Amino acid sequence: MSVFDGKLTIEVAAASGIEAVVKRELVALGYAPGGAEFGRIRFEGNFVDVLRANVFLRAAGRVRIVLSTFAAQTFDSLFDGVYAYNWHEVVPPKGRVVVNAKSRSSNLFALSAIQSVAKKAISKRLMDVYRLSSLEESGERYDIEVSLVNNVATLTLDTSGEGLHKRGYRTYLGDAPIRETLASAMLQLSVWNPSRPFIDPFCGSGTIPIEAAMIGKNIACGMGRSFSCEKFSFAPKVRQQVQQEAEQLVIRDAKLRVSGFDIDPNAVKLALKHARAAGVEDCVHLQVCDMRKVSSRFKYGVIVTNPPYGERLMDSDSLKQLYGDFGKMVAKLDEWSVYAITSFPAFEKYFGRRADKVRKLYNSEIECNFYAFLGAKPPKRSDDEDRPQS
Ligand SMILES: C[S@@+](CC[C@H](N)C(=O)[O-])C[C@H]1O[C@@H](n2cnc3c(N)ncnc32)[C@H](O)[C@@H]1O
Repeated sequence: MSVFDGKLTIEVAAASGIEAVVKRELVALGYAPGGAEFGRIRFEGNFVDVLRANVFLRAAGRVRIVLSTFAAQTFDSLFDGVYAYNWHEVVPPKGRVVVNAKSRSSNLFALSAIQSVAKKAISKRLMDVYRLSSLEESGERYDIEVSLVNNVATLTLDTSGEGLHKRGYRTYLGDAPIRETLASAMLQLSVWNPSRPFIDPFCGSGTIPIEAAMIGKNIACGMGRSFSCEKFSFAPKVRQQVQQEAEQLVIRDAKLRVSGFDIDPNAVKLALKHARAAGVEDCVHLQVCDMRKVSSRFKYGVIVTNPPYGERLMDSDSLKQLYGDFGKMVAKLDEWSVYAITSFPAFEKYFGRRADKVRKLYNSEIECNFYAFLGAKPPKRSDDEDRPQS
């Protein structure tokens, strides 16, 4: 009997500002998540649900299994609490255990000491149970996190491996690409749905339009990659079952109006490569074009974009000019809603409009604002009106 055969508490990491999106995704997958605490959301499930969360969640950072929780005010109590867990139900004799630590408002705060005590306790328990004098650690990897909050330790096992933003389609990086998970969260925070036209006028390597098309085609974003939990010796082999579920859900003939434009031909080349790798090249239009020349004959479309910001990409005067021109371009679009993420503090001033909503989000640790400028809602039966003219 391994821990993976029973009921599990599953913990999903969500970046600051997007917890509600991840919670909504979990509900849509059929789970009953609890509240978000320190960027983590829990729900109950079994090992299939662990893999489903990895494969289907679009905005989450990673998925962990909660192993145990105990009070730990001293290194002795930390050692005893870690030792007490049945590690042989998780780690095989040759498994390689890597321990990571976090501490907040706790007596124990020296992370390397916490890591080393926890690792010793796990190794001792494994050696005692397997009757070994040393551990080979030549097998698959098990990433354990010891998280101390208010003197309570929680032990979790990572099941994702590489972060969930790594979908597998973005093999080449452009200038300041946005994380795939954040791009998807921004789309899910917007009023866009696959029946409405979509444009990213600063698409760079294509992340936002590709994520939109993946939503439109209902492609699970983890379909094209593997996860560390698939290699766990004691875990049931459920990948085929989850993969089959994901494949059946793909809408192969989705009719989408998703476009991305960028002034840089190399960025658009990359975006095209990425769209092909993601399996959405048939329903994303990507083109070299100055944002100033972007227009649309459709009404009620949505822009979600990550325009240049920060001195690394542009000087401040050019940025102000660019934002002003972006505001003018958008003013010509009929009832479109616009969403932009930037760390530039006076974005609204140069864009020429006050946002209807502003939300704080983090793009690779940089604090940004996500501005929403709302157009009118499409009338009922707007599908007909929105359909491309032939
Ligand atoms: C922050 S990057 C966008 C990154 C993109 N979200 C990604 O994931 O790769 C901003 C992009 O704006 C483009 N850009 C700058 N000025 C532009 C203009 N006038 N028209 C269109 N694109 C422009 C740059 O070439 C760059 O690719």
